[in-house]
Amino acid sequence: MIPTILVHGGAGRIAAENLAAARAGVERAVAAGRRALQGGDVLDAVVAAVRVMEDDPVFNAGRGACLDADGIVEVDAGLMRGRDLAVGAIAAVPELGDAINVARAVLERSGHCMLAADGAVRFARAQGVGQFGRDAVWTAKAQARWEAARAGIADANGQADTVGAIAIDADGHVAAACSTGGVLLKTPGRVGDSPIPGAGYYAADGLGAACATGVGEAILRRVACYDALLRIRAGLSATAAAQAVCDAVVGDDASITCGLILLDAHGGVGVAHRSAHMSHAYARGDGPIHVGHVAGETTEVIR
Ligand code: GLY
Repeated sequence: MIPTILVHGGAGRIAAENLAAARAGVERAVAAGRRALQGGDVLDAVVAAVRVMEDDPVFNAGRGACLDADGIVEVDAGLMRGRDLAVGAIAAVPELGDAINVARAVLERSGHCMLAADGAVRFARAQGVGQFGRDAVWTAKAQARWEAARAGIADANGQADTVGAIAIDADGHVAAACSTGGVLLKTPGRVGDSPIPGAGYYAADGLGAACATGVGEAILRRVACYDALLRIRAGLSATAAAQAVCDAVVGDDASITCGLILLDAHGGVGVAHRSAHMSHAYARGDGPIHVGHVAGETTEVIR
């Protein structure tokens, strides 16, 4: 098996002035994930890739995440290890810049799969993990977008959302991780697909790994990631499975966006989205990094 890592920076419409930054961001994330995959295990790889995107204000996760109806950043994140189906997730946690690190601590140290809100904050503080505070998440750009949406000047929908990473190592072990600020102007306490295994992400050795992005409510109803992996097992290619699930999630509702990245159990890559854009990148072994904003228009970056 050739170790492979695949990331996305969210399905939605990327403003023209952000296209280059989104491209550079997913490329950096894949590079960091690949370094971790070479030196560590597959969970290290997906966490490293997501951490790069959480710290990059161009994405709706960590620093730069969108604000809720109260003007607060509340984040969700989750990850899964395919070897033993271990899951760690957090939901509706305020002002946390590195949600995926706390989700990992839940997986490794809590004895539970998911912690929410104040309980998650108290767990993180007791464990000494998590970068908390408005400075860890707030950006002037997210504030301006929130003010424009509240004033009805800008649409709250269609913003590129969520970051995710999936990886497979030389022994066929897989992992998946995702992190998000959710939906602009969301009701405080709202939880989307990103912390929910099967919906926002899934990883099982022998089956594959998946991450979703888009309107969480629609993705949740379809248990999109698990559905996509079952379609691969039923005989679809990774790309065909990703496309079929995006189509099922969106249906004929033009207000819904959905994107999926998939790895099958043999390292086959699938990318599909029903949105104007979904920045994504992948790398196999030491080969070139492939980067794109639109599925099927992925180009190689040779460094
Ligand atoms: N897909 C992220 C969310 O809806 O929260």
